[in-house]
Amino acid sequence: MGAESRIIIDNKAIGGEEFDQLAKGKKPIANPAPNPPPARNANNSKGKKSRRRQQQKQPSAAAVRPVQRLFDTCKEVFKSGSAGIVPSPDNVEKLRAVLDDIKPADLGLNPDIACLTLANLDGAAPNGKKPAIRYLHLHECNKFSIGVFCLPPSGVIPLHNHPGMTVFSKLLFGTMHIKSYDWVLDEEGKQQPEVKNQLPKVRLAKVKTNSDLTAPCNTSILYPEDGGNMHCFTAVTACAVLDVLGPPYNDDEGRHCQYYFDFPSSQFSVDGVVVPNEEKEGYGWLQERDRPVDLVVRGELYRGPPFFK
Ligand SMILES: [Fe+2]
Repeated sequence: MGAESRIIIDNKAIGGEEFDQLAKGKKPIANPAPNPPPARNANNSKGKKSRRRQQQKQPSAAAVRPVQRLFDTCKEVFKSGSAGIVPSPDNVEKLRAVLDDIKPADLGLNPDIACLTLANLDGAAPNGKKPAIRYLHLHECNKFSIGVFCLPPSGVIPLHNHPGMTVFSKLLFGTMHIKSYDWVLDEEGKQQPEVKNQLPKVRLAKVKTNSDLTAPCNTSILYPEDGGNMHCFTAVTACAVLDVLGPPYNDDEGRHCQYYFDFPSSQFSVDGVVVPNEEKEGYGWLQERDRPVDLVVRGELYRGPPFFK
């Protein structure tokens, strides 16, 4: 996922860096000390022994919080990351395994209330608008970002892309419908011609996924060129998705979040491109669009179990 390059806090759109500034200006997102420091001891040698014992006592892997393991693994997996650079298969599997094990409680999420915002508390969005989506910001740097989207029932994250990114999405709870596409490429790996006389541009894409996903389930991964790089999420029930993007969106570096309309493959045609009748369901035409005005994502700071950065 990771659709929202700009997110709304108190009706103000902000991005990842601004989140960090917000965090610095207020309370830190996470407690930098996982355990309280040992109390000062009047007996210095006793204090030294105590400290030595603590240093010798290394935390076991099982004692590391899942959110800490997630952050540390992201740091390792994306350390040489940049646009279009896909982590090695070993690293992809390493991060997938960590995400597969994450539970809502590991991030301090209660499925009964996690998708409620003030706008949704009465069970319906005001003025007939679509219900608001929450985005819990855990981290963003120039290598990767981590966050959780909480969608109320019928909440939609419209069809959008992930240019040059590898994205790991872990459905934490609930049921979500996913429709995803990849561009159809010619034999030279170039995109298919666009539909003539159509602005914005309309190009052919192949459906990768069009189904419901229910937690608990394994992590989904998309890549710069395949795996469903353009996707739309619709909440069938209240649900939450943990999203890791490597690298994150960055307009200045050409990684802009582009939204799309999708049309049935029968609606347009291009010379030299033939979609057999029996395969028409497996294709669609995508046309660029502006960010939907009714898409409301409320950004919030993460307040789950703390982790070191
Ligand atoms: Fe996304």
